[in-house]
Amino acid sequence: MSVSGKGGFPFYAPGNRVRRMRVLGVNAVFHDPAVALVVDGAVVAAAEEERFTRRKHGKVCVPFSTWELPEESASWALRFGGVAPSELDAIAYSYDPELAPPDGAELHENEYEALRTYFVRRAPGFMAAALPGLDRSKVRFVPHHVAHAASAYLAGPYRDCAVMVMDGRGEQTSYLAGVVRGGELEVLHRVAIPDSLGLRYEELTMHVGFKRSSDEYKVMALASYGKPRWLAEIREAMHADGAGGFVARPIDLARFVPPRREGEEFSDGHADLAASVQAALQETILELARGLYEETKMRALVLAGGVALNVVANSYVAEKGPFEHVWVQPAAGDAGTALGAAMYVARAMGDDVRPMGSAALGRGWSDAEIEAALDGANVYYTRPRDIAEAVADVIAQDGIVAWFQGRSEFGPRALGHRSLLANPRYADTLRRLNDVKGREQFRPVAPMTLLEKAPEIFNGPFPSPYMLFVHTVKPGWEEKLRAVIHVDGTARVQTVDRREERLVARMLDAVERKTGVPVVVNTSLNTAGRPMVDSPRDALECFGSAPVDALAIGPFLLKRETFARGSSSVSAVA
Ligand SMILES: [Fe+2]
Repeated sequence: MSVSGKGGFPFYAPGNRVRRMRVLGVNAVFHDPAVALVVDGAVVAAAEEERFTRRKHGKVCVPFSTWELPEESASWALRFGGVAPSELDAIAYSYDPELAPPDGAELHENEYEALRTYFVRRAPGFMAAALPGLDRSKVRFVPHHVAHAASAYLAGPYRDCAVMVMDGRGEQTSYLAGVVRGGELEVLHRVAIPDSLGLRYEELTMHVGFKRSSDEYKVMALASYGKPRWLAEIREAMHADGAGGFVARPIDLARFVPPRREGEEFSDGHADLAASVQAALQETILELARGLYEETKMRALVLAGGVALNVVANSYVAEKGPFEHVWVQPAAGDAGTALGAAMYVARAMGDDVRPMGSAALGRGWSDAEIEAALDGANVYYTRPRDIAEAVADVIAQDGIVAWFQGRSEFGPRALGHRSLLANPRYADTLRRLNDVKGREQFRPVAPMTLLEKAPEIFNGPFPSPYMLFVHTVKPGWEEKLRAVIHVDGTARVQTVDRREERLVARMLDAVERKTGVPVVVNTSLNTAGRPMVDSPRDALECFGSAPVDALAIGPFLLKRETFARGSSSVSAVA
């Protein structure tokens, strides 16, 4: 792809040669290590390390792992952007050791906190070792929550907006709220740990038997099955403080229901507890949003931080809150701080940074490269005249299709580039998909539809290109969409803009022609506990190990019944 320096403010090096400004953003401190490359204000690449190393979330979130860097994704991003490590103008690291807790400070009883700061301070040296030629003096530390905020106000579509960052923790805070005018951030509020909305939700996640910093979205789904019968008690420990911040202290969850051990069944109590904390969280965020609106009178609110992946809370704020627009960074978790840090530093160095436009910022393969991978695996495949039409045929026959097209998505959601697709009409599709993915049966899958069709089928907010809101289904459509309607009657819609996603749009058109329904089920292309598929090899491994009916990879189609025949040949299907 072209990364030539159009737009922005060219930087004139000695000799009046126009130089491109190149900034590499790095998230490495807690979890979800990731990189982003910004060249002349444009986001050229962004990717999570897990997609390369195939280790979910990249690393364990402990102080000992802070030295680990997203080396593979960084090498790829630089290669892709045509930038040598020595040519980087800055490396933006999304944590500022100057703001870290002082040595010896107790931070939620973590006696190794000092180790984290120790490794962060040495990150420039680690970076130079990992990427030979990189000048360690060019590393800039960006406060963690400023990086999250920039991933929303610089990567998003609004230059004037209010911004809220909510996560587990940054250096010593768990929340930032501010106002952005002309792309310039003014911080209005911060909340210091131990008060933390993210940490409380993580503790709930552990309490109901899931993995913290990983499975919070499962708890949100579980909450839909419960009643918030302990809301009053939870509210005492978690509420907005009326002054722009909140109280969110540790809660003795065992007093409501005993912790669920691995392998144990869920009780109604677990679902009710999840529902109670979810309700208190939503109330708190809505109050914060209302207060921020009164202070700023901005029309748009942008969100980032891991808590902004809570689509139910996002919808609550969008629906009940005072803002006309709510935009959420799709990589709202820590991976997104790589992007935010890079954009923040690029802007500080004089670049006119531009919104991200699309989440398809990861790796992509040419048709020839895909074909070589298929031939190398000695599998049988065809090259249909139109892959969109061929996939629609499989979906119309109630098949499940692994869909591998274009560049992979940055952030945790599959958005039509690394997706599993299916027919939403049959409720059994959900069971089959959850079986394919080896995951709990209470987990919902999501519908994908064209932007222009969405308002006739679902209630807003639209557009919803990143699946960060929930929607209700309009009367008359329930029967046709049984697989994608969650127990609480909602669906997490992805809207597809046909101008931006022409192949996906063609597939949706073909599905509508064949089934009468302009919707497909879309869930991420991976199996249980594995990161999303990224490369053709990952796609083949996934297809080879999961009962998926077809794999549409670039223009090529593999079918389950002919997959293992051992002959490699291409035939154009007329
Ligand atoms: Fe964070």
